[in-house]
Amino acid sequence: MSAPFRLLEECGSTNDEAKRWAAEGAPHGAWIQAKRQTGGRGRLGRTWISAEGNLFLSVILRLPDFAHLTWVPLLGAASAVKAMEFEAPGLDFRIKWPNDIWTLQAKLGGVLCEGANGVVIVGIGLNLNQRPEGELLYPAASLAEQTGRTHNPEVIAARTAWNLAQGVHQLRSQGPAVLETFYNTHALFGVGTQVEWADQTGEVIGLGSSGELRVWVGSEERSLFAEDVSLRRV
Ligand code: BTN
Repeated sequence: MSAPFRLLEECGSTNDEAKRWAAEGAPHGAWIQAKRQTGGRGRLGRTWISAEGNLFLSVILRLPDFAHLTWVPLLGAASAVKAMEFEAPGLDFRIKWPNDIWTLQAKLGGVLCEGANGVVIVGIGLNLNQRPEGELLYPAASLAEQTGRTHNPEVIAARTAWNLAQGVHQLRSQGPAVLETFYNTHALFGVGTQVEWADQTGEVIGLGSSGELRVWVGSEERSLFAEDVSLRRV
């Protein structure tokens, strides 16, 4: 059975709209999409530039098992990548741990997970048809400039939301192994990659049992949970 959804012309942030809808009793898997956002939010208090033509989606999850909560950001990114791979097979999509979507050189989208009263809101922004302009932290890309055609945000939103609901089901029935395998084949930071965060550097070992990023810092193993990690500049 397909989940209920709402398509808005404009809102501040779809995550806020989803929180309101969840408080009114929206079921697991319900999703909300806007054509425009006037107050899009990114991770770590950043602004999400929300150019018209791009995808702004929030999915309401009522997790049956909170043990899987830490995997949800990666699941959001994987769900969006799968939806775009269907649209543009052969394009090299990468997941930049913990929840960004990149082509090899630039950011295509991101995931912002927020909790409210036992519900997880998975907010996903994808630069489908417009490359955001302005002062950006990372180089940005749009799907359209990679494929040479425009992409329908409603179609990709529906697929992403469906993938997310399926992914939650799979986490529950099989654990994180399937998601981990998908991540490993799409990771921007593969095993052995030199990375940096804050004022530290390390070498990627892989994911831990909660989806954390394990790294070597010298001969010591560390686990990163939500840090802003980048490829190490040489
Ligand atoms: C990031 O990369 O920092 C995460 C960006 C998340 C943006 C999406 S757009 C839909 C949803 N509504 C928001 O205000 N933010 C998320």
